[in-house]
Amino acid sequence: MIIGERQEMKTQDLKKFKSSSFLVKSNSAISMLLAKLEIANAELSMKLGRNVLINMCGRVKTIESIQAKCRKKGYDATYECAMEKINDIIGVRGVCSFEDDVYRVAEVLSTHQDLKIIKRKDYIQQPKNSGYRSLHLIVEIPIYFQGEMQWIRAEIQLRTTAMDFWAGVDHQLRYKKGKKEAVLIGKELKEYSQAVAELDRKMVELRKRIDAI
Ligand code: GTP
Ligand code: MG
Repeated sequence: MIIGERQEMKTQDLKKFKSSSFLVKSNSAISMLLAKLEIANAELSMKLGRNVLINMCGRVKTIESIQAKCRKKGYDATYECAMEKINDIIGVRGVCSFEDDVYRVAEVLSTHQDLKIIKRKDYIQQPKNSGYRSLHLIVEIPIYFQGEMQWIRAEIQLRTTAMDFWAGVDHQLRYKKGKKEAVLIGKELKEYSQAVAELDRKMVELRKRIDAI
């Protein structure tokens, strides 16, 4: 690929992303991962006496978004390259009320023998430049289809409601990046990320005080 030159995905690669086997495998991976979050929640809820994961969802990245990411990162716009290099083609998200519960969910998932944790990115301990905070697990899960087993890669994003709120607002700003006002808003949003971190910390303290009554 020539760097800097906009390269669209070829028809044969687009076909692979649109193929029913890709969609079946991707959607199965999402279902399996959501089931894992459900069972982790059940386990922790029994142990702690409160609901730990208050929301979960999953999605397959759109072809447009896969292409845009290949372009941004300078990857070859091929199916194979995208599948190898892009970790979040398949993504699930689990949202907790409390920050310490985010780590509890990750801990439980790490005990699942049929889930390979390839990488752990702790953007809570080390927030991104933008102020983004979440715990990311890049995982692989075995999917059985048409007599074959394939390890399917996915990104699990674990965060608190407050982090999720912040990320949602930041996401809206993403499409406006580059503009002067957007730079200023980005700076302001980064400050609010610290306020969100402070709120998360206070809420854990509050819950502990409530528990102690
Ligand atoms: P991209 O950030 O998508 O280029 O992927 P990456 O390989 O650099 O991984 P990273 O861990 O940085 O981000 C993966 C995903 O986390 C993204 O697709 C977003 O869903 C989320 N994310 C990362 N950074 C931000 C951010 O600054 N704001 C928001 N709202 N979400 C972010
Ligand atoms: Mg990134």
